[in-house]
Amino acid sequence: MAQTLNRTRVIIASILMCLVHFPVNTTCETEQRSALYGQIESPDYPEPYGNNVDRVWNITVPDGFTIVLYFSLFELEASLDCAYDNVKVSSSEETATFCGNGQFLEFRTPRDRNMTSPNNNMVVEFHSDYSNEEQFSGFVAHYQARDINECLVNNGGCEQVCHNFVSGYYCSCRLYYQLQPDNHHCKVSCRDIVYTSEQDEFQTPDYPDDYPPNADCNWLINVDFGYSINIVFETFQIESHPTVLCPYDFVKIYYDNEVRGPICGDSQSDLPASFSTSGNIANVTFHSDQSVQRMGFRARYDVTGRSCGALYRPTYGMISGSNFTFRDSVRFSCNDGYVINGSTSRSCQANGTWSGIQPTCEIVKCNVPQPISNGEILYYSGMNFSYSNSIRFVCNDYYEMEGISWSECGVNGTWTPEPPVCVPICGESSISPRNPQPGRIVGGQESTPGSWPWQVLINIKAPGFGGLRNTICGGSVLNEEWILTAAHCVTGTEVSLTTYGKVVPNHTVVVSLGIHTRNSPAEHTVVRSALEIIKHAEFDHVTLDYDVALIHLNESIQFNDVIRPICLPPQSTHIEQGDDKHVYIPNVADTDTTAVVIGWGQIQKGRSTSNVLLEVYVGVNVPRNLCNMKLNDPVTTNMVCAGSTEGGLDSCGGDSGGPLMLRDDVTNRYFTYGIVSWGEGCARPDKFGVYVRIENFVDWIQYETFVER
Ligand code: ARG
Repeated sequence: MAQTLNRTRVIIASILMCLVHFPVNTTCETEQRSALYGQIESPDYPEPYGNNVDRVWNITVPDGFTIVLYFSLFELEASLDCAYDNVKVSSSEETATFCGNGQFLEFRTPRDRNMTSPNNNMVVEFHSDYSNEEQFSGFVAHYQARDINECLVNNGGCEQVCHNFVSGYYCSCRLYYQLQPDNHHCKVSCRDIVYTSEQDEFQTPDYPDDYPPNADCNWLINVDFGYSINIVFETFQIESHPTVLCPYDFVKIYYDNEVRGPICGDSQSDLPASFSTSGNIANVTFHSDQSVQRMGFRARYDVTGRSCGALYRPTYGMISGSNFTFRDSVRFSCNDGYVINGSTSRSCQANGTWSGIQPTCEIVKCNVPQPISNGEILYYSGMNFSYSNSIRFVCNDYYEMEGISWSECGVNGTWTPEPPVCVPICGESSISPRNPQPGRIVGGQESTPGSWPWQVLINIKAPGFGGLRNTICGGSVLNEEWILTAAHCVTGTEVSLTTYGKVVPNHTVVVSLGIHTRNSPAEHTVVRSALEIIKHAEFDHVTLDYDVALIHLNESIQFNDVIRPICLPPQSTHIEQGDDKHVYIPNVADTDTTAVVIGWGQIQKGRSTSNVLLEVYVGVNVPRNLCNMKLNDPVTTNMVCAGSTEGGLDSCGGDSGGPLMLRDDVTNRYFTYGIVSWGEGCARPDKFGVYVRIENFVDWIQYETFVER
């Protein structure tokens, strides 16, 4: 404010000067300059200045700056006291008048000199009078604003610390002092200085200089609940009294509902003892009176976490972490085959207790193993199916195992490996077939009862389903639910009837299993009806191509010595087809080319059917060309021929649907090579019996029944 007033005064003064000092006919101009730097020149420069010229430059820069003026050229008429021509430089404090030039050194010229204004304003005036002397070129001057370092003078008026900055300054106070509203003075201010970190240090105001008089300080240490505080005095010098306990200046510490102190004294060797709180708050207070100041003290503190007590590893498990104080945490884990029950991690809490629940390691349990069909699970009694327990599997009679016979309860609670499955043993008889010898079905012999346990007798009683000249057919057991037979056995064959090509009604089919003698079924004979009859979609009544069908039994059966399934052909069934020149006589010793066919059919064309199950050995190494040549009706690729060139060995009416069996060399098991289908007469020389080529239908059968090979 004072500066602003001064500046105004200078401007008014210079304008007045211009008006008052000079006659009315002189030119007097005032030019305002407010840039941070610039140049001023004498009137008409670089031409010599004229007579009777007055010119004023009023230079103003922002507050907080001074102005530095510098003349690089100065050529004015010289005169005593610069009475004729002159340049005046004025500031709030002084005015300097200059004139002259390089020739007359006794006159004051301002060349090569910096002139600095005390504040942000400077006025430059030029005056020339009437003259008939030589001419002068005048002057060139440069000015620029320069920051005032206010702090250099009287510390800027700051009581403690002054900070200069471009165009201004400010005051601040030392630690534990507060700047007053006048922005210059400081007052001690050390109340309620709060510390919350886990360690820090603090000291009396102005330490290590003397503390101020009349101070009341307190440092409030307030750390997290769960920590206690340890305080150490590193230095301590507080005014004391030889007989009275700290009557003037003193320290008092409040913690855990206790007060420590007053403490004072100034022996370096007699520092107050370090101490620890049990709570998380301590309030260190300091008081000084109006007289006698000492260095004061410097103290530091740190914290100790509250202990939660040791934790231990669970049985069958592990613990990680061995620090048990506030904020520490430990983790638990279990050995393989054990699962954790409780907290996997616990942390020491502020109140000295652990979070969570102490875990235990419980052994992994597997589910009670699911019973397997057609088999049993063996395990030791009292077993609770836990980790590393193992169980064994056995299959029931007539079944064999696919898979591994044992399983173990694994680390993740599942049985490994997967339990096996029990699949029916196919193509094996409990009762051995008769020693093969040439004989009769036509030309066969009676079979040993029960030696072909897959053979079933099918009775069809379907009025209107003509063409079933014999109401009996054969079939073979594929599994507990399915029977394989010929399509022509279970469909109407009489072209004139509406039933032609249609599957007979389910209830008209009676399937007898475990039967040997037709007119006196044995005790173990099982009778079933059809739930579903599936004939091959491509079945052709005229040519008997695709003569294959499946009967789904209305109730599944249980295997026993006389009821067991037959196999389907293995992956590749290669029968040597021989050549046209050979004579085909079954050689029963040759299991590759000699098959067995069984049935209750006619023992000779036109004669009655058999009461007991007959078997006959037939050659199957018959080339299809030859067979086609010998027979009137076509032999398709879905058919195989069997018999002998001589005749005499054949199936016949009533045998249809029954199996033509070969024995697998490797497994010694019987599989269905063919199904009895058709012939021209029975057992005639130069003719063969025709059978469904089952290897063509393995996929179809599996698709329809899910029977495994
Ligand atoms: N189609 C007759 C049946 O329904 C089977 C004929 C078999 N004939 C033969 N010569 N192999 O029983």
